[in-house]
Amino acid sequence: MITIDCSALNVVVVGGTSGINRGIAELFASQGASVVVASRSQDKVDDTVAALTELGAKKALGFAADVRDYDALEQGLKATAQVLGGFDVVVSGAAGNFPALVNGMSPNAFKSVIDIDLLGTFHVMRAVYPLLNKPGASVINISAPQAQMPMIAQAHVCAAKAGVDMITRNLANEWGPSGVRVNSIIPGPIAGTEGMARLAPTPAAIKACENSVPLKRFGEPSDIANACVFLSSPLAGYINGAIIPVDGGWLHGGMAVVADGIGKMMFPQQ
Ligand code: HXC
Ligand code: NAP
Repeated sequence: MITIDCSALNVVVVGGTSGINRGIAELFASQGASVVVASRSQDKVDDTVAALTELGAKKALGFAADVRDYDALEQGLKATAQVLGGFDVVVSGAAGNFPALVNGMSPNAFKSVIDIDLLGTFHVMRAVYPLLNKPGASVINISAPQAQMPMIAQAHVCAAKAGVDMITRNLANEWGPSGVRVNSIIPGPIAGTEGMARLAPTPAAIKACENSVPLKRFGEPSDIANACVFLSSPLAGYINGAIIPVDGGWLHGGMAVVADGIGKMMFPQQ
């Protein structure tokens, strides 16, 4: 394993208490960063903070907040930034997903994903900017392949994540002059995650999905975490406004084939 000294970094991962985002928080912690995690469940926050401490975080903190609740989010971010001395790295990855056709989705179902993924990203960005250590901060939004490729039963996620990537591009312009870089990462299908459990719920769907990736395997949370550490290092000092797939090449065709197939498996009326 390559070791990268992150001991000078104060990192916050919103939605950092499970899956991919927790993997990101854990890598920064294992490299000596101070790490804050936030999500709705206080139990998940406590469990993650204990794990980050165990892994070697300089400091590990957390708070419970729903990204849809701007005041609670802002209060948690302010309080933890005050303890650490501002943030050098922000990862915004809270998201919700369920497979549903547009014709089978209530207005509130569509809105719930837009509110968590898109409005939630805006909330994180809006609340965290005054707390960033400038110049030099790295902000990373966790997007999804649905931002670039339509997928049956994913209109809500496709719309929300496309919006997330446009926020990234806009903020790269607005915040670049103050020395803050803003980028998106598009994870491919990542093994053992809630996202894939929802989108590929059967062994057949998992197999089809794996086969559709040019590298012929699912990614690991560490694949995404590695990209986050890179983006937050001096090696990435000129990367701003980039939308970076970390997906084994999935977006270059394989996803389109399997996305349609899995959608039709779940919704045969299609
Ligand atoms: C149709 C559904 C539905 C479904 C929920 N709803 N599930 N509609 N089909 N399967 C509707 C509900 O009926 C309700 O509408 C509305 O959505 C909101 O549901 P709630 O349960 O009240 O919302 P809430 O408690 O806020 O929970 C949000 C959630 C939930 C998104 C529905 O699943 C959640 O908390 N998810 C977080 C974890 C998660 O999804 N992780 C995976 C991320 S993966 P009505 O009209 O009845 O009020 C990802 C991309 C993966 O983002 C990409 C892989 C390639
Ligand atoms: P996950 O395990 O469900 O993680 C979601 C995290 O966000 C959890 O910590 C959850 O904790 C938190 N969260 C959810 N709703 C929230 C809300 N309203 N407010 C605050 N926190 C909230 O999901 P995952 O599959 O690892 O996905 C993580 C990210 O990667 C998401 O942005 C997803 O879109 C993206 N992605 C995933 C895949 C994949 O293969 N899984 C592929 C592409 C993109 P609480 O329940 O405690 O709130």
